[in-house]
Amino acid sequence: MTKTVAITGAASGIGKAAMQRLASQGWEVFALDVARVAVAPNVTPLVCDVSDAASVATAFDRVAARTPKLDALICCAGILRIGPLAEMAVEEFDRVFAVNTRGTWLCARAAFPLLKAAARADQPARVVFLSSVAALRPKISSGAYAASKAAVSQLTRVIGVEWAEHAILVNALAPGTVDTPMIRAVSDPAKAGRYRPSGASPIGRIATADDVVDVIGFLLSDAARYVTGTTIPVDGGTQAAFVPPGEG
Ligand SMILES: NC(=O)c1ccc[n+]([C@@H]2O[C@H](COP(=O)([O-])OP(=O)(O)OC[C@H]3O[C@@H](n4cnc5c(N)ncnc54)[C@H](O)[C@@H]3O)[C@@H](O)[C@H]2O)c1
Repeated sequence: MTKTVAITGAASGIGKAAMQRLASQGWEVFALDVARVAVAPNVTPLVCDVSDAASVATAFDRVAARTPKLDALICCAGILRIGPLAEMAVEEFDRVFAVNTRGTWLCARAAFPLLKAAARADQPARVVFLSSVAALRPKISSGAYAASKAAVSQLTRVIGVEWAEHAILVNALAPGTVDTPMIRAVSDPAKAGRYRPSGASPIGRIATADDVVDVIGFLLSDAARYVTGTTIPVDGGTQAAFVPPGEG
């Protein structure tokens, strides 16, 4: 039977790369984003603002009209807003949490019946959230983002435990800097203030979206059948490296 997956944030970056990889492997992909997702073989684009409960409900109703079950959910939709916390506008702080944290939970909640319908003890359904290395180590000028991602990692633990009895495995990835439009938008030092991307890892380069999608592939595979409730760094050793004050 064809495997089915819903991917949020599928118009760009990591979500787009995951969509292309899984569609090429024969998965039926429901590609959710506020931005337009191009129609492609095995891909059903669905407009969805993950921060809006009604929009999420409508999108997953549409998924349910097309498939009785989801083998996987991958939540990549996210935004980065930078700036010192003392100067950040309330609306910006709230928006970061609305998209990154509440949006992740809303999509998981809406997908739950479809994931349950696919899940079997010998073939668990999978959920992959996108946390960040920013959740694991403090970084100046991205405080709201870091806190929103720390919250995603905590949701991962709790939902992982709550859904274990339903044979749904829930994990998050914590990438370091990945070469995507999100990072390109804040990489100009003239506009970035004191914010700096984590930059080249001890491995000597920043990640590609495919570096992250490979680990998503592992989490969707039988090899990850005993992995749940955890956040896996995909950061080339960034978290492990000491960063002197002023350089992080
Ligand atoms: N790029 C990095 O360095 C990096 C590092 C760690 C974690 N992440 C996380 O990985 C995920 C993907 O990031 P990316 O680098 O591919 O970013 P990106 O900006 O390239 O893609 C993000 C996608 O999310 C969509 N999106 C934004 N708000 C949305 C909303 N309200 N509803 C639906 N879709 C929405 C955007 O339209 C876009 O298509 C994000 O959660 C990000 O925080 C990225």
